[in-house]
Amino acid sequence: MLTAEQVAAYDRDGFLVVEDFAAKEDGAALIERADELMRTADLSEVRTIFTTKEQERVSDDYFLGSGGEIRFFFEEEAFAPDGTLRQPIEDSINKIGHALHDLDPVFDRFSRQPALAEVAADLGLDDALLVQSMYLCKQPRIGGEVGCHQDATFLYTDPITVTGFWFALEDATVDNGCLWAAPGGHRTSLRKLFKRRADGPGTEFEVLDDAPLPDPHEPGALVPLETPAGTLVVLNGTLPHGSDENRSARSRHAYSLHCIRASAAYPSWNWLQRDLPLRGF
Ligand code: FE2
Repeated sequence: MLTAEQVAAYDRDGFLVVEDFAAKEDGAALIERADELMRTADLSEVRTIFTTKEQERVSDDYFLGSGGEIRFFFEEEAFAPDGTLRQPIEDSINKIGHALHDLDPVFDRFSRQPALAEVAADLGLDDALLVQSMYLCKQPRIGGEVGCHQDATFLYTDPITVTGFWFALEDATVDNGCLWAAPGGHRTSLRKLFKRRADGPGTEFEVLDDAPLPDPHEPGALVPLETPAGTLVVLNGTLPHGSDENRSARSRHAYSLHCIRASAAYPSWNWLQRDLPLRGF
């Protein structure tokens, strides 16, 4: 699937942008299915928001138990002060996670398309296991920021093997919250680990290196990855990246899949634990 130049670019930059990877109808099928899941979900008891602001990171049972489930997380600004939604539910969800690829046939088919397995193999991931999937809505006007981070903080293996596959299902631009990444930043240290607490409920960060990650507000620290619908972006697990809030009137739906290598150890303190067996492509 990939040329030698593309593999070299991935090694150099820590990310690779592959335009026209997914067929239009395949992306449309995911959008349609996610819409159906959101409209039919019974979320009357669920008010878990997703935020990456560290002080407020929500690590309740609903989140911590979502590794082997299909669960729904709201945008931080989805609710009015009285606790009711300000907009229809399908316009209120921040993301759906984290086992869509194993539990939903439409997402399973997309995630295990042979072309993707070939891309992974071209990048040396011939024993990849699909550990996590997320449908990311980045809703119009209220789409939350995802602060600069390294995926290995949240999905750690020894050695580090986590790799992200991010698919633009709609055009992503600087106006509606496209990805931003630090070229070459995957060759810097892993800054911290997000761990389940050993001494009680919830999670905590363990700092490994207090060197700051690139500041998204510092000009030039990160570059925008503006990607038309159908684009695949592969992300190295230590690459600093994030995405801005969406204040535009257009949504920015994306699908993201993370894999680890079977040969690496997956510690039991990772936040994501699941009863479902891990499977490859
Ligand atoms: Fe990420």
